[in-house]
Amino acid sequence: MRMVKALAQAFLRLLWILTLAKCKIPDAHLTCLFSEDCVLPCSFQPGGNEIISWYRQEVLLLNHSHQGGDQSDQPPKDHRTRMYLLQDQLSRGNASLHLSQCGIKDRGRYRCQVNSTLGQQESFIIMKVEAPIKMVTMEISKNREIQCLSKDIFPAPRVQWSTLPPKANLRSTTHMAPNTEGLYSVQSKLRMFGNTPTYVCTVNSTYGSQSWKSSLQKGELTGEAGRELSIPCMAPQNFQNFFLTWTFAKTNDKSKVILSYVSQTRRTSNLWEGQVELEQDRVLMGDGSLLLHNPESQEHTGTYTCTFSGFQSRHMVQTQVAIRSTLRRSLTENMPNAEDQVGRTGESHSKMWVIAVVVAVVALVTTALLLYRKQRANQGKADRTTLEDTEMQPMETIKTSDDLPMDNCQLTAGHNNGHT
Ligand SMILES: *[C@@H]1O[C@H](CO)[C@@H](O)[C@H](O)[C@H]1NC(C)=O
Ligand SMILES: *[C@@H]1O[C@H](CO)[C@@H](O)[C@H](O)[C@H]1NC(C)=O
Ligand SMILES: *[C@@H]1O[C@H](CO)[C@@H](O)[C@H](O)[C@H]1NC(C)=O
Ligand SMILES: *[C@@H]1O[C@H](CO)[C@@H](O)[C@H](O)[C@H]1NC(C)=O
Repeated sequence: MRMVKALAQAFLRLLWILTLAKCKIPDAHLTCLFSEDCVLPCSFQPGGNEIISWYRQEVLLLNHSHQGGDQSDQPPKDHRTRMYLLQDQLSRGNASLHLSQCGIKDRGRYRCQVNSTLGQQESFIIMKVEAPIKMVTMEISKNREIQCLSKDIFPAPRVQWSTLPPKANLRSTTHMAPNTEGLYSVQSKLRMFGNTPTYVCTVNSTYGSQSWKSSLQKGELTGEAGRELSIPCMAPQNFQNFFLTWTFAKTNDKSKVILSYVSQTRRTSNLWEGQVELEQDRVLMGDGSLLLHNPESQEHTGTYTCTFSGFQSRHMVQTQVAIRSTLRRSLTENMPNAEDQVGRTGESHSKMWVIAVVVAVVALVTTALLLYRKQRANQGKADRTTLEDTEMQPMETIKTSDDLPMDNCQLTAGHNNGHT
């Protein structure tokens, strides 16, 4: 038992020594923002006649000898390398390194070394550079693909898609490429599919400091000219301190802002004054629906986009609005009547057939009768010409009174009979 206890104690002491040895030079961590100034801290015990050296990845960046007191022969500033120390801080034991306009290449392990009459003191700092996400936008390309875009980010972020209602196995393609400064541009595409109104793109920074969300909802709406129309737009739940904008675009046209609203000041800027309006009491609760007062078919047909912008989030509602003119409406309403008329003309066509047949039959009968009568008359004429040539007048009278052929026939017959 005593042996075990002694061993355990020895082990613990060893562990403690090891921890101490490790803790002797603890690396400090620092994240600097891209293109901004950064201060790398370094404190030392002032002992006089210090020589201060800063290294990055063991490459000397800066050497400065400090004689004590505030005056120095040369200013510890190097414009060429964008690095400097503050003179007045050195006498207080502060040799912090100033770095102006941090770049991606400035990342690394820094060493601050101070040699003085007290000996050598050093400390290490691991410096990271981050270019935060400033905006995530979404757009729909022509071939029914939805794009999530962001740029000037470092390190390369993580992109994730989701939908509302949720759908599994979303297949997206993401392209990320650094520019000459080392900052990443992100372009992620997802093919749109039916019956999913909301697409959500999440872009997270590698260091976990940011999570941006951008969503897009699509819709369609048909209104009538002259009749008030409300184009719906609801903010996601618990969306606070937002900026709301409404834009309008006709097909193949650039979109222009028509209205904007700031929730904190409750101020609306309306560029379509008199034509559109927000409902003031509802907009504060996240209902940014737009009221179109007196829409006109030509002027107000197009794409209306409502955008809620808040802290690291953006929600867009894109509505395709068609305003039907009352003229067009009556035309479409008359369509069934027009079909009716087509039906009726069909009916009258068949009626006309009947009439045509009747007319043809009557004409045929009449012609037949006429021919018959003419033949008979000719026979009589032939008889008469042989008898008396002057008897043409009664024939003419018979001809004109065609409406009573039977009587004429009888007459002719009688006449003929009278002659014969
Ligand atoms: C920095 O100081 C050391 C020691 O005095 C010297 O050896 C070295 O040359 C100096 N480097 C520069 C760049 O001044
Ligand atoms: C050291 O000086 C820098 C400015 O050069 C300052 O920002 C920092 O707070 C100082 N550190 C201490 C411990 O005083
Ligand atoms: C500081 O002291 C260390 C160890 O004594 C030495 O290796 C180094 O060259 C010195 N640096 C300067 C700049 O004098
Ligand atoms: C992004 O961050 C959010 C919030 O921290 C988290 O819920 C989500 O899972 C993260 N997504 C990815 C892809 O890292």
